[in-house]
Amino acid sequence: MVKVVVAGASGGIGQPLSLLVKSSPLVSELSLYDVVNTPGVAADLSHISTPAKVQGFLPKDDGMKNAFTGADMVIIPAGIPRKPGMTRDDLFKINAGIVRDLIKGVAEYCPDAFVLVISNPVNSTVPIAAEVLKAAGKFNPKKLFGVTTLDVVRAETFVAEITGESDPSKTTIPVIGGHSGETIVPLWSQAKPAVKIPEDKLDALTNRVQFGGDEVVKAKDGAGSATLSMAFAGFRMAENVLKAVKGESSVSEPTFVYLPGVEGGDAIQKETGCDFFSVPVELGPEGAKKAINVVSSANDYEKKLLAKCYEGLTGNISKGVEFIQNPP
Ligand code: NAD
Ligand code: LMR
Repeated sequence: MVKVVVAGASGGIGQPLSLLVKSSPLVSELSLYDVVNTPGVAADLSHISTPAKVQGFLPKDDGMKNAFTGADMVIIPAGIPRKPGMTRDDLFKINAGIVRDLIKGVAEYCPDAFVLVISNPVNSTVPIAAEVLKAAGKFNPKKLFGVTTLDVVRAETFVAEITGESDPSKTTIPVIGGHSGETIVPLWSQAKPAVKIPEDKLDALTNRVQFGGDEVVKAKDGAGSATLSMAFAGFRMAENVLKAVKGESSVSEPTFVYLPGVEGGDAIQKETGCDFFSVPVELGPEGAKKAINVVSSANDYEKKLLAKCYEGLTGNISKGVEFIQNPP
């Protein structure tokens, strides 16, 4: 019996993500929480002939408590998306408080749940989540994940356009660091199987992965940011966690974790100077089993990218920590 909550379930990501979760045979209960429209979304999804029982909740009538209680996993795509001209950090003002309050609910009603944070800026909202859980005495670093899978999905897709690989998902590419601009670092040298990228295409390819989000924001022209590709990526991460919980071995995915709390993370923390960092994480029944150190084998090109990543990421992380430790 697996109960999954989607918080922000009525939104652009929330709805297709909830559809994918409802389609999964790994899920027996799906709880939709949002400040609007969940009764309608839940009624709609509940007609689909898969095992998961669906219920929708609004904040009234103890909605968060009823939605979260007994949850094994809480996926959070709640919050505002970017418009053209905005950075993810511009979302902090509104989304920081939204994530803080949802995580307070997690700490109170389902402290043992796996928590997957999608809301931007991920580089700060995950530290916020960690601080809220720490303050409540409920922080389990093995169960808190910042979802950076969309960067991996983009890297797989964009590199296949160069290599001609017909199934992009066959290539594993560690995309590490954070989730915004220069904090996103694709390690092409560690792709499996190896990829050959012509030198004159390397900068543009790397830049496209780092700024793939902007490409969508621009194309949507004021109507938001990536939703469908994010739902795909968010579900991929959630499904991997659920598969590992069920005992499937060799499941790993890059994800933004609190390094000192995960086996293998201390060495990466020392090398990067960042407490939170996305690296490939081996998943197991308890969550994050081992952080894989792909940083030390980066080539010179990637090391230069990493230096810029550390600079931006440390500030983003401190901003999140500070928001909880010294509230504005
Ligand atoms: P959206 O506006 O379409 O949906 C957000 C939903 O959150 C809305 O339904 C809204 O009612 C709900 N919400 C707001 N406050 C809430 C609260 N306190 N509790 C519960 N629900 C609440 O936005 P979207 O396009 O779905 O994007 C959501 C977030 O995901 C944004 O912050 C966006 O930047 C982020 N995002 C992250 C990634 C990633 O790779 N991690 C990718 C794409 C988007
Ligand atoms: C993305 O990478 O598409 C998301 O983080 C949304 C955004 O603001 O770009």
